[in-house]
Order: sequence, then structure tokens, then C-alpha cells
Amino acid sequence: MDVTPAEQFTAANLDRFLAELFDFLRIPSISAKSEHNGDTRHAAGWLRDRMRDIGLESEILETPRHPVVLGEWRGAGADAPTVLVYGHYDVQPAEPLELWTAPAFEPDVRDGRIYARGSADDKGQLFLHVKAAESLLAADGRLPVNLIVLAEGEEEIGSPNLIPFVEAHAERLACDVVVISDSAMFAPGLPSVLFSLRGLAYFEITVHGPASDLHSGSYGGGVVNPAMALARILGTLHDDSGRIAIPGFYDDVVDWGDETRAEIRALPFDDEEFREGVGVAALSGEAGYSTLERLWIRPTCEVNGLLSGYTGEGAKTVLPAHSMAKVSFRLVPDQDPARVAELLRAHIARVAPPETRVEIEELHGGMPWRGQVSGGLIDAASRALARSFGRRPVLTGEGGSIPIVGEFERILEAPVLLLGFALPGANMHAPDEWFPLENFDKGIVALAALLEELGSGAFAA
Ligand code: BES
Ligand code: ZN
Repeated sequence: MDVTPAEQFTAANLDRFLAELFDFLRIPSISAKSEHNGDTRHAAGWLRDRMRDIGLESEILETPRHPVVLGEWRGAGADAPTVLVYGHYDVQPAEPLELWTAPAFEPDVRDGRIYARGSADDKGQLFLHVKAAESLLAADGRLPVNLIVLAEGEEEIGSPNLIPFVEAHAERLACDVVVISDSAMFAPGLPSVLFSLRGLAYFEITVHGPASDLHSGSYGGGVVNPAMALARILGTLHDDSGRIAIPGFYDDVVDWGDETRAEIRALPFDDEEFREGVGVAALSGEAGYSTLERLWIRPTCEVNGLLSGYTGEGAKTVLPAHSMAKVSFRLVPDQDPARVAELLRAHIARVAPPETRVEIEELHGGMPWRGQVSGGLIDAASRALARSFGRRPVLTGEGGSIPIVGEFERILEAPVLLLGFALPGANMHAPDEWFPLENFDKGIVALAALLEELGSGAFAA
């Protein structure tokens, strides 16, 4: 296999590419925290400048909160396809800080891994696309496609402003395919293309009891306890077989069919290894489904956080006035977060103890997505990944969410291709997030090859 000029350029410039990525990773662009608004904006400006450096037209476009960075190269001509690359330059908070081996925003290479917040999710992966474009532009003087890079700064807070942004700029963002790297490969050396993402419906549930905290001896037994009431409410969310017990919840869940289930079963996955990796005594979940099916193609309901009463040192006898739970649902096609909100409200109205008052706040949502499993686009991605990784990808599902994906398909009427280069256990959202050093090089090579494949026009559906 001949090494292309672009691949030679990538190899020759890898150290510089990596040094640039480290600069990007040093900027704590934590979208959730307003104290980091300046850093988040700094990251946007940094990315715009790097895209300008390599020959893209690039600008920052405002949204009500964190800006969008747009990079464009439209020199391939009207007959060439237009590829829109999407990624996010914002990151999750790094807490708990004391659990990081090296500080979260000081990139550290250890054991063949780049450790830093955002190395995998998603700055590192977004940057692969920029460096793939740079390699092609530097080596060939042009790209095989028209390219739009759209980087948002609000993905980790649910992309609240991106749908209106894409709607408002739909003409400018018109494209033939959207390509996203914000996920992981199925296993080391085993590239993957995603066929699904779960959606999300996230709520904060607050149970109010007495007007203020009370002495649990003087009042306990005669006054409702909001912590117990919340526990009872949460206890009604599942039945004994692990199914969600909200009436109507499964009405819109489509059956994935035996073909997908057979493909999932054929993947090299070891329950025991997975169990040991997460450190539980036994695996659990909805009866009748394998672990991967539970993670990818079945909806879930999780408590993400719980708060009530006295949680400090020692004992304090108190009957709390309030209790609160953060509850999220991962959704599968064709569920809709707005419908889930209605069903949850109706369910809680039925089961909440009458002595309480329950408030439900909708925090954010995102539609689930189901993609292609065959066709020209998948073939193009397979060839590109095979060129870099020496083997064709597997098709996998994903339990996480990228809220804009379904909206891209709806608004831009273009298919989305999701291929990520992180690895399982990348600690996305957790301490010691990492990205495999090996895939920095291989990812850039694969993404340059992908643009070549897409430019050859072979993918048209
Ligand atoms: N990159 C992730 C999604 C993801 C996680 C893909 C793991 C593949 C493997 C993305 O940045 C993310 O974290 N999404 C959030 C969405 C939420 C904040 C609306 C998620 O899934 O929780
Ligand atoms: Zn994330």
C-alpha cells in the first residue's frame, strides 16, 4: 500500500500536531460553569485560529451562551460533495480533582495514552478532523470535498442553542453527509461505525413536605417524610423484571429485529470481563436482553443524584423538609423526550403520597438516533478505517447521547456517520480521561482517507 503525500505529511508533523492538541487541552472550556465562560470562549478563538492557519475560512458565531466555531473550505467545486464535520470544544467539569493522577488540564502522556479532560470527549477527536484536513491541504493543495467544520461549545450541557442555530443557518450548513468522531471503538485495534445512539430525557424531581426541617422525634410519625416519599416514588419506576413501570413508556419503543440482535450477539463481548471492569457482584438489567442490548437498544431509567436531610458527620435527628432526585432516561427510537416527560408527570401524580407536593423540572433532552447499517456511506467508512487500522470496522450501538445527531438528519436532510477513536474505559466525564496515542496518528490517517473516499463520490446513496 503506497503511502500518500498526505499520510507522509501527517507522519512528519505528528509531534507538532500533538503539541497543538496539548495547547487545546490546556484550556479549561467547561461549559457548565459560568466561571469558565472566558476559557470556553478562549477555546473557541483558539480553534478558529488553528483552522485559519491551515487554510479554512473560519469565524466565531454567537449563540445566547457559548459560541459556535465554523470552518469552511469550499474549493472542491459544486460537483463535489460537501462534508460537515461536527464536534464539541467544551468539556465536562473535572471533579473530583483529587482522583486525577495528573491535573485534568495538564495533558500527560503515560503508557501510550494522552491523559487530560477532553482528550477523548471531544477536543482530541475533533482535532483529528482538523489535522486530517491540514494534511490533505498541505500535501495536495486542496481537499477532495467541500468541508464545513462546526464545533459547538454546549454539547456537555445538552446543546440548548444548537437546534435553533442549525435551523437558522441551514442553507449555509447544507451538506451531503455529516461526520462525527465523539465516540469509541469497540475494542483496541477494532474500529467501529455506530448504528445507534440513545436519546435522553433528564429531570429534577423535588418532593416538598413540611414548611421547614423538623425534629424527627417530636414530629416523626405524624408528618410525611419527603426522603421516604421520594424513595417510594423512585421505587415505582421499575418492576421486578427490570422494566420501566411507567404506563405507556414502551409504546414508542421500536423492535430492532432479529438481524440487529444477531449482529450484536456476534460481537466479541465478555460479560464476566465487563462485570469485573465495573466492579459489581453481578450484572443486572431488563430480563430477556444481553448486556450490549441493554446498553444500546433498550431504554433505561437512572437516578443520577439524590439529596435530602442531614448528610454530614455523625447523626442528626431531623425530618427533612425537602428531598431531590436527578433522574434521567436513556431513550431508543422512536421515543421522544417530550412524551416521556408527560408520562413521567402523569405517573408521579398517581404514585406520590398525597401529603407531599412534587415538582418536576425538565433539565434537558435529546432524540435517539438509528443510522444506516449498510450502503455506500458505510462502505466508504469501512475502506477508510481499513486503510488506517488494517481491518474493517464492526458496526456497534452506543448507549450515550449526542443530542444534535437526529436533528442534523431532520434539518439538513443528510445522513450522519459516527466513527470514534477513543477506547472503552476512556473515562469520559470521569477522572483520568484518556485517548490512545496510537489512534491520534491512525485517526488522522483514517479521516483523511475518509474525505478521499467521500470525494470519489462512491458513497451517494
Ligand atoms: N461523547 C459523548 C457521548 C458518548 C459517550 C458517545 C460515550 C460514545 C460513548 C457526549 O459528549 C456526551 O457525553 N453526551 C452526553 C449528552 C448530554 C449531556 C445531553 C451524554 O450522553 O450524557
Ligand atoms: Zn461528553
